[in-house]
Amino acid sequence: MERRKITVPGVIRMKRKAKKIAMLSVYDYPTARLADEAGVDIILVGDTLSMVLLGYDTTLPVTMDEMLCHVKAVARARTKALVVADMPFMSFQVSAGDALRNVGRMLKEGGADAVKIEGGRCIAPTARAISEAKIPVMGHVGLTPQAIRRFGGYKIQGKSDTGRAGIVEDAKALEDAGCFAIVLEAIPWSLAKEITEQVRIPTIGIGAGPHCDGQVLVGHDLLGFYEGHIPKFVRSYADLRGTIREAFSDYVTDVKSGAFPSLEESYENAKDSQEDRHPEAGDT
Ligand code: KIV
Repeated sequence: MERRKITVPGVIRMKRKAKKIAMLSVYDYPTARLADEAGVDIILVGDTLSMVLLGYDTTLPVTMDEMLCHVKAVARARTKALVVADMPFMSFQVSAGDALRNVGRMLKEGGADAVKIEGGRCIAPTARAISEAKIPVMGHVGLTPQAIRRFGGYKIQGKSDTGRAGIVEDAKALEDAGCFAIVLEAIPWSLAKEITEQVRIPTIGIGAGPHCDGQVLVGHDLLGFYEGHIPKFVRSYADLRGTIREAFSDYVTDVKSGAFPSLEESYENAKDSQEDRHPEAGDT
């Protein structure tokens, strides 16, 4: 059966029909094309690109303009998946007006279908303003990496009774504010189960156990392409760093030894170069 374009109402229906949601953080055109072809339901252009692609230590430095550049590339690549643009640190915290202007850019200039913001009850009024502007908004509670200075590091959240109750309240506040889904990050699986049972909108877990309505991972983590810390909840599906390093090293060896290029990989005459023309090449 032909896969349909994933929409926001479609994502909400998946929870009602008990169909698991597969979400992946990817940031560029070729990877987004592969994720789309592989059947990923939601492509998140996550602010993790700050660390994974740009080499910063945290997600705090990435800017609106940098995020927009990647949102545009991913939006150009997808055919079926829902594209969600992560709102970078300080693009939505200052005021609801500021948030609306910035989320608007993600849809209008970036081509995203929806946005994601981090935070619970304190950010619910902003989530409501975004939702009332008819911009689909995804919440994100538990370990919210933009708050790591406040948390004092990447720590599992919701371990105490008060912590658990607070995260349940955060999730409910975001649902009331009009969020269409909520990411639950790095919380005990029993708490994620409780939240999943208590809200009508889908929960998408990352380090939150198997009972969520969907799962999200950072694409570079599951591909073995990120050299930083890989948390225990990541399942490794490939070793891209090993594969790429080996390919690059073979290339260097071949260039140094003169084994690359061969004559078959070189042009001999005008006919040859006519046959190997780029589709966009002109008449000359
Ligand atoms: O930025 C990101 O990639 C995320 C996911 C890990 C949920 O927020």
